[in-house]
Order: sequence, then structure tokens, then C-alpha cells
Amino acid sequence: MATYVQTVDIGHFATADEREALTREALTREVRRGLITRPRSLSPWMFYDAEGSRLFERITALPEYYPTRTERAILAGYADAIIAAAHGDRSSPLRLVELGAGTASKTCILLEAASRISDDVAYVPVDVCPDALELACQNVACALPEVRIRPIVRNYVTHPLQLEPFDGTTLALYIGTSIGNFSPEEARLILRNLGTQLRIGDALLLGTDMVKDEPTLLAAYDDREGITAAFNLNILDRLNRELGADFDPACFRHRALWNSVESRIEMHLESVQEQGISIEHADLDLHFTQGETIHTENSYKFTDRSIRTLLRDVGFEIRGAWKDCRGWYTLTLARVG
Ligand code: AVJ
Repeated sequence: MATYVQTVDIGHFATADEREALTREALTREVRRGLITRPRSLSPWMFYDAEGSRLFERITALPEYYPTRTERAILAGYADAIIAAAHGDRSSPLRLVELGAGTASKTCILLEAASRISDDVAYVPVDVCPDALELACQNVACALPEVRIRPIVRNYVTHPLQLEPFDGTTLALYIGTSIGNFSPEEARLILRNLGTQLRIGDALLLGTDMVKDEPTLLAAYDDREGITAAFNLNILDRLNRELGADFDPACFRHRALWNSVESRIEMHLESVQEQGISIEHADLDLHFTQGETIHTENSYKFTDRSIRTLLRDVGFEIRGAWKDCRGWYTLTLARVG
């Protein structure tokens, strides 16, 4: 497979086989952690196998799922201003490091702006899904052949990044409201870990989906076509494929709800009937009652205030913020102070 993705960095293992074995170990650990205790839960990184990444790409094009196109519009309008705010010194090299790059479909807008300012631009996409990363590299290589690309396959939550030293400015990109998957405590940890890899003058561009009316939020996570439902249910297929489980996805249904106290959308899988499930490679036999749920995702929604608090807590200074006209989404640029 991997043409561009040669360096595998899930803890320094190089071959696809080793990567598979590690992923299987992580999945096993995760089902033992999350499916035995109540309430049952699984981590959202488990969505992103090849099929899950494809389904997520389809979500981003749904009429109800506004975050991706809203963020893209902000980038299209302000990419030059954002890059200028991040990189004052036009003559020095610029490195864009993207956490959770996915297929990097919006990143090219920023890379183009970066290339207008500096003739020495490097791009380091980091993602847990090698298939998505492969596409990211192809997209960027095709649109911007002059950009140096150094992909890293890594779960940046379980294995904090270790960046190579860089002679120039680093702009870390954490866009696509990926940070919304994490609790405030986890988010602070991820940003603190990232901060240790940055130097004074380096910057972070953070993309966050904002609190808005409940029907709009709910529709974005429970679309009419059922793509989000398929994305959620794909976790069960993945456990069947990779851990020899015997889930029947037809016996679970997708649920999305707005938790206003925690300021987050929650996704769950609800057992439609009483059923027994075995997960062979994890040595697990589970029993589900009718209506019992697995909590599969949180997607936190932000306010100007919660963004300010988060960034201040982890030692970043806000230098600029850009929004769409409805105020549904914010891109915040912060510098290591
Ligand atoms: C990739 C975490 C930003 O929370 O909106 C989309 C994932 N889940 N639809 C989000 C997702 C259901 C998405 N993030």
C-alpha cells in the first residue's frame, strides 16, 4: 500500500504487519477497558479504520454536517491572514504539523498561503489511520509539489508526538474540531504535550465547533441519509473484522443526543434487544440488555470563553480568531508565549 507513508511511528514499528499487531493490541485493551465496566464506552479513535475514514469523508459532505464546509470557508477567506499571524518572519522556513490530518482536504488552503509567504515549507501530517494519511500525502503532493512532506502514523493521544528539531517556525494545526472528541482534561493534556514540542514564537491553529441551537447540532450527528449511523455502527464491524467479534450491527441502533450540561454531542450505540456477544481475540463474552448502550463519542462544542480558558490553561497566548458570519465555528491562532 503506502507509497508516501514509509515511516510508521506507532511507537517505532515499521512494517504493516507490526502495525496491525499493535492496532489489534490497542483494540483489545480498549474493549477490555470499555465494554466490561458500566456505562460501557469505546474510544472514538476506533472509528477510523479504512472504512470508517471513508464514511467520515462522506459525513463531511452531508448537508446537515456544517463544520467541515464552515471551516473550509473561513480558511478560504483568511488563510493569508492566519499564516501572516503565525509566521512574521517571511524569510525563514515554515513547518506545518497537523494533528489528526485525515485526508488533509482543507489543509491545502493553508499550505498554499504558506507557500506564498515562504519558499521553504514542510508539511508533517499525523494521523492514526494510514489509509487516510496516504490520501493526505497524495492530495498535498499533487497540489503543491514544492512542499516537503513527512507523514507520521501515530495515535497522538496514546503516544505523544516527538517532533524533529526544526530551524524555522512551526505552526501546529489542530483543526476540524478534532479536539472536541476529548474531555476538557484530556484536551489540556494533548495541548500541553503539543506545547512541549514547540518553541517560543511557534504557533497553534485550533479549529473549534461552537455551541448553537440544538436542532442544528443534532441533525449534524443524525443525518437523514444515515451515514453518521453507519459511521457509528462501523465500530462493531471493525471489532468483528479485527477481533473476531460476532456483533450483528442490525441489532444495535445509532443514537445522538445533546448534553447541555457538558456542552457536548454524545453518540451511543443502543442494543435493540437482549443479546450475547463474544469477542474472540479479547476473550470476552458480553451480555447486553435491551436498551443498553455503548457510548462511542463525545463532540464538545465551545464558546469564546471556553476556548480562552483552555488555551490560557495550557500556556498559549491568543493572537487572532476568525469566524464564519453565523459564528458557528472558530479558528483561533495562539502563540507559545
Ligand atoms: C472528527 C471529531 C470532528 O465530532 O464532528 C462526525 C467526528 N462524529 N460525525 C465531530 C464525527 C460524527 C467529528 N470529528
